[in-house]
Amino acid sequence: MSGLEGISDLRTVFVGGKGGVGKTTMAGALGVHAAARGKRCLVVSTDPAHSLGDLFQREIGDRITGLTAGLWGLEIDPDAQARRHVDAVTEHMKELAAPEMHKELTRQMALARHSPGASEAALLERIAGLIADQLDEYDLIIFDTAPTGHTLRLLSLPEAMAAWTDGLLAHNRRSDELGKVLKHLTPGQSRADLPTPFDDPEEDPFQGMDRRTRRIAETLLERRRLFHRARRVMTDASRTGFLFVLTPERLPILESARAARTLKEFQIPVRGALVNRVIPADADGSFLARRREREARYLNDIGRELGDLALLRIPMHAEDIQGLEDLEGLAWYLREHGM
Ligand SMILES: Nc1ncnc2c1ncn2[C@@H]1O[C@H](COP(=O)(O)OP(=O)(O)OP(=O)(O)O)[C@@H](O)[C@H]1O
Ligand SMILES: [Mg+2]
Repeated sequence: MSGLEGISDLRTVFVGGKGGVGKTTMAGALGVHAAARGKRCLVVSTDPAHSLGDLFQREIGDRITGLTAGLWGLEIDPDAQARRHVDAVTEHMKELAAPEMHKELTRQMALARHSPGASEAALLERIAGLIADQLDEYDLIIFDTAPTGHTLRLLSLPEAMAAWTDGLLAHNRRSDELGKVLKHLTPGQSRADLPTPFDDPEEDPFQGMDRRTRRIAETLLERRRLFHRARRVMTDASRTGFLFVLTPERLPILESARAARTLKEFQIPVRGALVNRVIPADADGSFLARRREREARYLNDIGRELGDLALLRIPMHAEDIQGLEDLEGLAWYLREHGM
């Protein structure tokens, strides 16, 4: 018993860990496993440098693509997502703004697309959308992701997820009325005399507003509801689990432990960890010989594919490279090789 039993019975699984530890490989393997158990499963890559397609040796890209029976893949393109989002908001705002404002509006919104965090926010919105809307379609959605502290926090806080998009929408339209709406939507500031906007879709919290303000307010509220629906799924341990992948090395361990604490703090249920690339207990001379054989093939490939670049091989160390002494050893190695 590993404690990971039933993980393919969850509805959403986030696979996270440090770069190169095997996240995509494990997300893909879990997807294949779930599909073999008769689940309809979608594997979503959120990494701009996608390798899900490489793993399945198939073109995937930014639309849901069949991989095998019961298994689909999707590679989100955060920049395209940010562009689509800003374009949609721009169109929406043009409807609301006076025609002589349109040129300036377009200019401002083009800037917004390149603002810090724009593609990250767009990515989070897409993730929330998949969680909130695609779970009718799929039994299990697996996200191949990287849990940097910032992303973790955003994932766990719908208010933070909404902040960027709200900012865009509210741009140029900060009327008093809209200010009131935004204030009302901000947690901790809800006024007792206003209804709670998230729970009752029949409720009309915008009574008495002019048409334009109302349109914006409704869009904001819709987005908030989306993030809240996603948040409800993500914090529910019977539906969602975070799965770490790490290798038995110092930095992946530190980063996973840190991320696990952050996730707990934000009530995202952590289901467990896959410790990858452990040397098998029965590794013998022939095992290492096979590893070396595989390595020789890849070293050969490197020569073929990258042979016009300057290349230097760094040997695998028996111990972690840690501390100044080790680094000096490595520096010495680099110097010895003319760097
Ligand atoms: N258990 C394993 N044994 C041997 N090779 C492995 C193992 N797990 C993964 N690999 C190899 O390690 C490489 C990196 O794996 P993968 O792409 O899954 O990592 P990743 O965490 O998704 O990386 P990134 O952070 O760049 O997205 C791949 O070439 C993969 O085939
Ligand atoms: Mg990957």
